[in-house]
Amino acid sequence: MEADKEKLLQGSEFCFRSGRLYCESVNIKDLQATVEKLYKSPFYVYSKAQLQKNISDYCTALNQSGLEHKLYYSVKANRNLELLRIISSSGCGATTVSGFEMQIAMQAGFPPCNILYNGNGKTMEEIEYAIRQGCMLNIDSQFDAAHILEAAKKLHKTARVLLRLNPDIDPNVHPYITTGLRLSKFGIIDQHLPTVVELVQSSPCVEVIGLHCHLGSTIDDLGVITSMCTYLLQKTRELREKGFGSIRCINIGGGLSIDYKREGGAVPTPAKLIAEIQKKLKGEKVQIILEPGRSIIGSTAILVTKVLGVKSSPSKTFVVTDGSMTEVIRPSLYSAYHHVDLLDYTAVTGDEGDKTLLDIVRARQSQICLLYCISEYCVFFTQQA
Ligand SMILES: Cc1ncc(COP(=O)(O)O)c(C=O)c1O
Repeated sequence: MEADKEKLLQGSEFCFRSGRLYCESVNIKDLQATVEKLYKSPFYVYSKAQLQKNISDYCTALNQSGLEHKLYYSVKANRNLELLRIISSSGCGATTVSGFEMQIAMQAGFPPCNILYNGNGKTMEEIEYAIRQGCMLNIDSQFDAAHILEAAKKLHKTARVLLRLNPDIDPNVHPYITTGLRLSKFGIIDQHLPTVVELVQSSPCVEVIGLHCHLGSTIDDLGVITSMCTYLLQKTRELREKGFGSIRCINIGGGLSIDYKREGGAVPTPAKLIAEIQKKLKGEKVQIILEPGRSIIGSTAILVTKVLGVKSSPSKTFVVTDGSMTEVIRPSLYSAYHHVDLLDYTAVTGDEGDKTLLDIVRARQSQICLLYCISEYCVFFTQQA
């Protein structure tokens, strides 16, 4: 079992060595003992090296593709200031979904011209803030277009905008994280596009610089990305013919899946994603924007918890820990798989046949309250409420 584990996590900054879990060169069990003396449990450990590697995987593939490109980080995936500073210093832009995210992105060093403000429910205050700062905005609907036009006119400024389109493409992921279907609340559907186009064409305060789609998250099927590129290219051509010569970028969104199960399954890499995009868009006069979140940040952290006790009923065994859905919401929110492992296998006896299915639970919620950074990795502490 140990040998398999060590093999599966090869290439990750979180790996087992001789049955013990490490983050980079730090033994997590040792770290837990140190942390507990100073603060509390549970806590997150982030690997800066893993974060930089994930960004560099995208950058390398984009550079090699020959596509004109820009990589934006989707701030909603994790908006911790320290992490954002690392990401901004690597030259990425940022996609944000609120006034607060725009502010924190700027605080972390992202230049406003490389910040995109996206969302289907922007307030007038946030829209004005974005325009004043020089951020780009996505137009998500007819009313959103009207609000952006009104704000730009009021401020005597030109708003640089992308039209977020709803392509009605099914990304084959959980319905809660599907965003590009007719049933989704995001993007302009084909029937509404002429009205939005007419509106923005009538205003000198708006420059349409691109088109945008985001199909959803945890995408494994790259065929859906190909369909989206075809759709976006077709719309770009149509709109350029209608006089939108200013359209110069295509934002393909984020959504790439990650290896949650740690079973060595074939999860598409950024290189495979970009090869797919390249097949469709190479040679076209467009800049490609990618805005991943999960595939940049998801594999950079673990949550270290402690077992408080074990509780059994005739049909179930519950392992009660000090971690809760406050720290890991995905399983409760949409039945997502969350990988759980021991920090140290060296004292474990028995073999595969002795495995039992357990429920790992915590009834009360915790609150994240502290952030602590140690050299190449960061530790985020959480405190029980
Ligand atoms: C518009 C947009 N772009 C990018 C992302 C990032 O997606 P992911 O974290 O799956 O890469 C999201 C996430 O919901 C999004 O809504």
